[in-house]
Amino acid sequence: MRALRIHSNDAGKISSGLEEVSVTEAGVGEVLIRVAFSSINYKDALAATGAGKVVRGFPRIGGIDLAGVVEESSSPAFTPGQKVLVTGYGIGESSDGGYAEFARVKAEWVVPLPGELSLLESMIIGTAGFTAAQCIDRLQLLGVTPAQGKVIVTGASGGVGSQAVDMLAGCGYAVTALTGKRDAVNFLKELGAAEILMRDDVKMGTKPLETPLWAAAVDTVGGETLAWLTRTIQPFGAISACGLVGGTDLKTTVLPFILRDVSLLGIDSVNCPMAWRKHIWHRISTDLKPRHLQKIARRVTLDNLPGEFDAFLKGTAQGRTVVDIAPGLDK
Ligand SMILES: NC(=O)c1ccc[n+]([C@@H]2O[C@H](COP(=O)([O-])OP(=O)(O)OC[C@H]3O[C@@H](n4cnc5c(N)ncnc54)[C@H](OP(=O)(O)O)[C@@H]3O)[C@@H](O)[C@H]2O)c1
Repeated sequence: MRALRIHSNDAGKISSGLEEVSVTEAGVGEVLIRVAFSSINYKDALAATGAGKVVRGFPRIGGIDLAGVVEESSSPAFTPGQKVLVTGYGIGESSDGGYAEFARVKAEWVVPLPGELSLLESMIIGTAGFTAAQCIDRLQLLGVTPAQGKVIVTGASGGVGSQAVDMLAGCGYAVTALTGKRDAVNFLKELGAAEILMRDDVKMGTKPLETPLWAAAVDTVGGETLAWLTRTIQPFGAISACGLVGGTDLKTTVLPFILRDVSLLGIDSVNCPMAWRKHIWHRISTDLKPRHLQKIARRVTLDNLPGEFDAFLKGTAQGRTVVDIAPGLDK
């Protein structure tokens, strides 16, 4: 089978490329999946280029997302022909992932494809949309409703951000999209953003508490942006923090937490427990289903995959990039 594999040389230098690999090298587990689609996430770009040390164990087949059809299963939980998806659990990092024609994974990682989604739709959504939905689910558990005010999404034109904008607007929230891309304004308005803020135009201030602006936030950026959000969230508001494209440091004070009752919610899609995972996929396929999946998505082939990672590292990628591995499977 063909696969994109990641290697580390003796000096620890990372490289990746397309190779012919035996199906017996398609990972370890009870379920063999014929992969139809994968996708590209920021983390995939870090893994394939070595820009971030996210891969453990080499050589490694990349791809943190996959959707396809069960080829064989020694677990009674799955039957050949069944449509399934796998995201997280370290596939593409600590075990082999979705950038290959077959993937063997543990049965406990496999999610039956929700009936309302096609294999293609599930990979337009992928880890990015799953994470956006986790962020929103958490905010709603805390009681954030559209009546409370604006919800800001940072890194808004990216994979997580664009789907968070689409899902929140679909639920009736007034969404402010924070972006670095002037040419993404129309895209973000079409997804339902009520207001667009350009990253370069934001005056972040330095006070521990700034004028409250947002009922809630979905933050994919981290660093100074997340610190600014803690200072500008309204009393009793909340932030779902899932990303680090703007840095891993967080310099803030306790004042937003103890004087405004602000909640900072951590989001981890990789180790999300299966019961909550199934709940999130159910919501994604029903009330949170992004309304503009085709607008968000572009498709690339496995052949073109190696040339796609750079845009993610530069922050110029927009929306979601799906990798067609065997698209004919999506019947
Ligand atoms: N916690 C989890 O389980 C989880 C799951 C999925 C993703 N993530 C994280 O969430 C983040 C977004 O992932 P993704 O797959 O959506 O990535 P992506 O598609 O590459 O989107 C990232 C977006 O962030 C913005 N951006 C890029 N560089 C920036 C910078 N230096 N400062 C501020 N904004 C910048 C850009 O959007 P604009 O130009 O519109 O600002 C970019 O399109 C990543 O850090 C990823 O690791 C975490």
